Amino acid sequence: MDSDSTANVVPFPSTKVSRETDKTMTDVALQVRAKSLEKWGPKQTVDLVGVSSKMRDTLDKVQKFAKFNQTILITGESGVGKELFAKACHLMSSRISEPFVVVNCPQYSEGNVTVSELFGHVKGSFTGAISDHKGLFDAADRGAVFLDEVGDLPSTAQTMLLRALAEKEVKPLGSTKTYSVDVRVIAATNRPLRDMITTGHFRQDLYFRLRYFPLDIPALRERDEDWKLLISYFVDKLNQEYNLKKAFSPTSIKFLERYPWPGNVRELRSIVTIGFSMAESKYIEPDHFVSELRQANLPGPDTGKNELFENMVEQGRSFWDVVHEPFLDRDLNRAQVREIISQGLLAARGSYRRMSVLFNIRPDHYQKFMDFLRHHRLKPDE
Ligand SMILES: Nc1ncnc2c1ncn2[C@@H]1O[C@H](COP(=O)(O)OP(=O)(O)OP(=O)(O)O)[C@@H](O)[C@H]1O
Ligand SMILES: [Mg+2]
Repeated sequence: MDSDSTANVVPFPSTKVSRETDKTMTDVALQVRAKSLEKWGPKQTVDLVGVSSKMRDTLDKVQKFAKFNQTILITGESGVGKELFAKACHLMSSRISEPFVVVNCPQYSEGNVTVSELFGHVKGSFTGAISDHKGLFDAADRGAVFLDEVGDLPSTAQTMLLRALAEKEVKPLGSTKTYSVDVRVIAATNRPLRDMITTGHFRQDLYFRLRYFPLDIPALRERDEDWKLLISYFVDKLNQEYNLKKAFSPTSIKFLERYPWPGNVRELRSIVTIGFSMAESKYIEPDHFVSELRQANLPGPDTGKNELFENMVEQGRSFWDVVHEPFLDRDLNRAQVREIISQGLLAARGSYRRMSVLFNIRPDHYQKFMDFLRHHRLKPDE
């Protein structure tokens, strides 16, 4: 096995999860860990952090799929952990002491180069082929090949790969002879392979061969509160590495509550690393990382606008305290106030005067209310 690889154990940090969930997850994690440690040195670990039900289902599949020699197709958005899961699958399989060879398919855009890299070539098969060359499938014999971004494989290589999977044999470029290989293929992609089949860019037969075991890794925003656990996990790792005791402040956690993590775990990891480096004292505050978040996906602060609406309409608090003042203090932005006004208009069946009553504005302040909306362009219909 590749000595640089750091894959094997699957522990789940137990912080911030209910006792019941924690216990279940620890049981699952310990099972995997014990199995892995039988064969490997304690140094090699893969941590698949998460306790959400989606992560549990995924881990359950990993454990089941890993045992068999069949092909696995891992799908999921960029940064969800496809490569990490691929390593875990290999290391939970009976091939764990054999090679795990990673092939970054986009690196080879030209058909012959890819075929030669994967399956080898014979001397003279193309200009510059001065001697026979063994391919990565040969290097991975008895182990596994991880085909990362398999959607980028050129069509000639797709055909050769299909043959390797179906016949368990490969033919080096320029050779007339085939030889047999015993390689488990784990492939990953974040591209829509089904659409690529329709447009003729990916072979349908290869697709079905590859997804013998389909493993879809859910996006981070679909995994309940796993993001909080991942933040603690990465911060803890950095604290250990630098012998520090930093933490995300409660304000930072609140700030991130509505962030949809478009870059998934990779983005989260980078936010933690940046926040950790920028914070000079114990707490990592939003200022330390906010400029790194993908601005287009940045939600407004979690002000709970429905809650604000309810504060006025159901709890009798006045518009001046609940909306006017936070707006002037820039704790609420224009879009958020317009949204509250829209809700008010709906509840008041289109009448600003009725809305002012709902928002607990005194009749003699009605004009001031309307001036305020006009002055700051807060009327949703204007
Ligand atoms: N569940 C997890 N627990 C701990 N770390 C994780 C987890 N998922 C992903 N990571 C970390 O997030 C980063 C991104 O993971 P990885 O490279 O496997 O994603 P990917 O899906 O292959 O991304 P891409 O599609 O961009 O290639 C890595 O640093 C990985 O270690
Ligand atoms: Mg990847």
